[in-house]
Amino acid sequence: MTGTILVTGATGTIGRRVVEQLTRAGAPVRATSRSTSNPLAGIETKLTGTRADDLLAGCVAVLVVAPALGTAPAERLRELLGAANAGTVQRLVLLSTASASDPMSPTGSHHRVLEETAAEFAGALHILRPVPLALNTIHWWGPTIRVAGLAEGPYIDVPMAPIDEVDVADVAARLLLSGDEPSGVIDLTGPHTLSSRAQIDVLARLLGTHIAVREIAPDEVRNRLGAAGVPAAAVESLLRSFHVAAERPLTVSGAVERITGRPAHTYEQWAERHLDAFQWPMMEA
Ligand SMILES: NC(=O)c1ccc[n+]([C@@H]2O[C@H](COP(=O)([O-])OP(=O)(O)OC[C@H]3O[C@@H](n4cnc5c(N)ncnc54)[C@H](OP(=O)(O)O)[C@@H]3O)[C@@H](O)[C@H]2O)c1
Repeated sequence: MTGTILVTGATGTIGRRVVEQLTRAGAPVRATSRSTSNPLAGIETKLTGTRADDLLAGCVAVLVVAPALGTAPAERLRELLGAANAGTVQRLVLLSTASASDPMSPTGSHHRVLEETAAEFAGALHILRPVPLALNTIHWWGPTIRVAGLAEGPYIDVPMAPIDEVDVADVAARLLLSGDEPSGVIDLTGPHTLSSRAQIDVLARLLGTHIAVREIAPDEVRNRLGAAGVPAAAVESLLRSFHVAAERPLTVSGAVERITGRPAHTYEQWAERHLDAFQWPMMEA
């Protein structure tokens, strides 16, 4: 392939892995970051606020990650689209969220505006809508499992379909590299549904320990996360993800396997790679 691929948010959870995959495939990559201290060794990196036409010069494909659009995301996206449409960009991958299909989710509303804005792109537009990442379970349960063998959460028996961050990134990388996929929205889930309780059971089995499970009410989640400084919109969006799955069972998407050519990783496979995050560090003898 010829032409550079621009990865915005390239130091982040998804972007970092996308850069790795593209580099492995031999594609020329340009990254963005707010950091001036060379955060991605060996990768051409431009400052996040760089003029759009400079950023996109010679690019054939772009990954847009919302946090990297800054404080006026729709305006910044419009600037990027203007330069993309005037230049050589053929494919745009927008990392959105499954919540974009929920009119009552604050995070979903934010992403829907970006999805609608992205429709101004003249080339192939791929909108990725992943469900909550399996990675979130480290933040939810890691600290209390480590210190007290306890995991707490709302909607504890509602089936979810947590997705491995690696699967999201690998889908994005494949779409950036190949022009085979038609434009459209791509729902991304893990390969099967399992409740929070079932996910905690997986962790307990892998850790070889008992984990006590306690369901907490949505209002308790609001109080605790609010006190911890999590913005109310983020808390409501999280609760909406569970609420929506409780109201209408989640449909598992086969998109990871269809696009990457390999099955999506199970929660157990994800947990095997991240088990350290749920274990108290071993003390040196
Ligand atoms: N977590 C989930 O369960 C989930 C599920 C579905 C969808 N999503 C969506 O996925 C996206 C997050 O992806 P991610 O986790 O890969 O991103 P991330 O790691 O949170 O952020 C990506 C990069 O964006 C840059 N950045 C962060 N805040 C910024 C700011 N205020 N201004 C400019 N740049 C900023 C940072 O790079 P530098 O520090 O190098 O500048 C960061 O490394 C969100 O839009 C989220 O809604 C998440």
